[in-house]
Amino acid sequence: MVHERCFYPVAARMGQVFQMDDKLLLIPGPTNLSPRVREVMAGPQLPHVGSQFYSLFKETVALARYVFRNEKGVQIVFTGSGTVGMESSVVSLVAHGDRTLTLMNGYFGHRMLMLNQVHGARADSIDHPIGEAADPDALRHQLQKNKYSVAFITHIDTSSSVINPVKELVEECQKAGVLSVVDSVCAIGGVPLDFDKLGADIVFTASQKALAGPPGAVMVAASQRAIEHMEKRKEPIESYYMNLLKWKPIMDDPRMYLATPATQVIMALREAMLEVKEEGMESRWARHRKLGEITRSRVEEWGQRFVAEEGHRADTVTSFWVQKENAGEIQGTLEKEHGIMIARGIYEDRDKMLRIGHFGILTTDTLRGALDTLEQVMKELGAVAGGVKVATSDNKR
Ligand SMILES: Cc1ncc(COP(=O)(O)O)c(C=O)c1O
Repeated sequence: MVHERCFYPVAARMGQVFQMDDKLLLIPGPTNLSPRVREVMAGPQLPHVGSQFYSLFKETVALARYVFRNEKGVQIVFTGSGTVGMESSVVSLVAHGDRTLTLMNGYFGHRMLMLNQVHGARADSIDHPIGEAADPDALRHQLQKNKYSVAFITHIDTSSSVINPVKELVEECQKAGVLSVVDSVCAIGGVPLDFDKLGADIVFTASQKALAGPPGAVMVAASQRAIEHMEKRKEPIESYYMNLLKWKPIMDDPRMYLATPATQVIMALREAMLEVKEEGMESRWARHRKLGEITRSRVEEWGQRFVAEEGHRADTVTSFWVQKENAGEIQGTLEKEHGIMIARGIYEDRDKMLRIGHFGILTTDTLRGALDTLEQVMKELGAVAGGVKVATSDNKR
C-alpha cells in the first residue's frame, strides 16, 4: 500500500501510537481510533442474535449508562449517526401540531429546527447570533409566551464551538413544565454531563466524537417522563426505525429483532467506552479541559478571533475566524504536507473559519506538536504575523 505523507512520524515521536496510514484527525469528528478499537473493527463478524454478541451488547448499554451517568432513566444504543439521535427524539416526542422551541446558535440548532418542521411541529426558535451562547433569560421569557411541549438545546454546537449553559437552560424548561432534549453529540466524553442530575428528558450522543469510537452508533438516554409522554401520545409515533419506544425492550433483550445492528461498530464502541472507563470520567474531562486550554491559548497568541464568546468556549472544539479568508488554503496545506486534518467553517463560512477538534484519545503532546505545525503553515501563508500577537482590530471578520 502506498502511503500519502502522514503524521505518523511526528505522532510516534510524541508517544502516541498511530499506524502508517493514519492522518491526525483534528476535525470535530470522527476522530482517530485507538489500536484496541481498530483491532475490534478488523475482528471476526459475529451473528447479531448469538450469545456472544448478546453479552457484548448488554455490556455496551451498561457502559453507555456509565458515560451518561444514567442510572435512573432508560438507556438506548442503536445503529445510526448523531442525526438519528436528533430525529428519533423529535419523532418520538413531537406530534403534528405540537408547539416546540429550538434554541439556535449554530448549524446544528438549525438542523434541529428543520427536523421539527419536517415532522409537523409548530416550530419556534430563539435565534442567537453565531458565537453567542443561548440565554436562559430569553428562554424563560419565551416559555412564558406560549404553551410549548418540548424545547431543544444543543450542548456544544460543533459549527461555532459554543458550549451552552445546559444546566440553567434545562432548569428553565423544568420550571415551565416543558420537556427538554439535549443534543450532546459534541460533548459527552469530553465535558461534564450527568444525566441523572441534569434532569433533561432526552440526551443523546454519537460514537465518533469525544468517546473515540467509529461513526455509526447513537446513544440516547431518556427520562421516565419522556417515556410516559411517548406512551400516552394520542397519535402513534410516525416511524418504525426511529421510534424510541420500539428500541426500549431491545435493550433488555438484544436477541429480539427490530433491525440488524452494525455489530462491528457496536463492538468497537464498547471497546472505546471500556477505554473511557479505564481513564475515568473525571480524568477524561480534565484532559479535555487541558486540550481546550492549550488550543485557546495558541489561537490567542496568533491574534485570531474566536467564534465563540468568552466564557462559552468548548473544550472539545475550537473555531476561529481567519483574517485572510484563506481557511481552505491553510487546511489543504496542513493535510497535504503534514497529514494533519482540521475543519473549515460550514457553508458561507468555509473560507472564513477554521475549526480544530481536540477530543477522543488525543494527548496534550500530540496536540501541541500539531498546533506548532499549524502555526508554521499559517505563518507561511501569511495568516499570522511571525508568531507574535497581531493587532486584534485587523482581524475583525
Ligand atoms: C452537535 C451535533 N449534533 C448532531 C450532529 C449530527 O451527527 P452525525 O453527523 O453523526 O449525523 C453533529 C455532527 O457533527 C453535531 O456536531
